[in-house]
Amino acid sequence: MRLAPVTEDNYRAVIGLEVHEDQRTFVATNLKSIADAWVHRPKLQPLALYHGEDLVGFTLLERDSPDVLHIARFMIDRRAQGRGLGRKGLAAIAELARAEGRSELALGVVPANAVARGLYAAFGFTETGEVDGGELVMRHRLAPSAHLAGDL
Ligand SMILES: CC(C)(COP(=O)(O)OP(=O)(O)OC[C@H]1O[C@@H](n2cnc3c(N)ncnc32)[C@H](O)[C@@H]1OP(=O)(O)O)[C@@H](O)C(=O)NCCC(=O)NCCS
Repeated sequence: MRLAPVTEDNYRAVIGLEVHEDQRTFVATNLKSIADAWVHRPKLQPLALYHGEDLVGFTLLERDSPDVLHIARFMIDRRAQGRGLGRKGLAAIAELARAEGRSELALGVVPANAVARGLYAAFGFTETGEVDGGELVMRHRLAPSAHLAGDL
């Protein structure tokens, strides 16, 4: 899985990615996320997720402290879900965080989002008990190497 900038060439396709109807309360639209990123640049970074040549998802990353990479948005297009790409996308984000010398990933998840909570827990995130804007805060300490079990 490759993380790539949102550019003049792919932004329309990124906006065209969509989640299932019953997932719409779990994540903002990519259009909104790109607007958020523009307003809050460079703190927010929008990235397209490619599997081979295929655009399959999107993430919005937030950097407000040196140690933590905050995953503000994360989605896999409905047509590409259920094939392990969510997990691969998280691994790519973890690798980027490590390359930047960060020691932790953090995110917030809507309590009713059982699939995402399960995915994050399986990846190594733990629920901290913090609630932010109605979302459960989850954190994942990063091992220094990308080659440790769990992220492959
Ligand atoms: C959460 C999301 C990113 C997962 O993406 P994905 O590519 O389907 O994830 P994966 O294929 O890697 O599957 C991850 C796990 O969830 C499970 N899963 C995936 N879709 C599922 C579904 N519809 N029902 C039950 N379990 C499901 C998989 O079985 C897998 O578990 P396993 O590793 O134990 O087999 C995707 O569902 C999504 O974009 N949801 C809408 C947006 C959203 O909620 N984003 C998160 C905001 S915090």
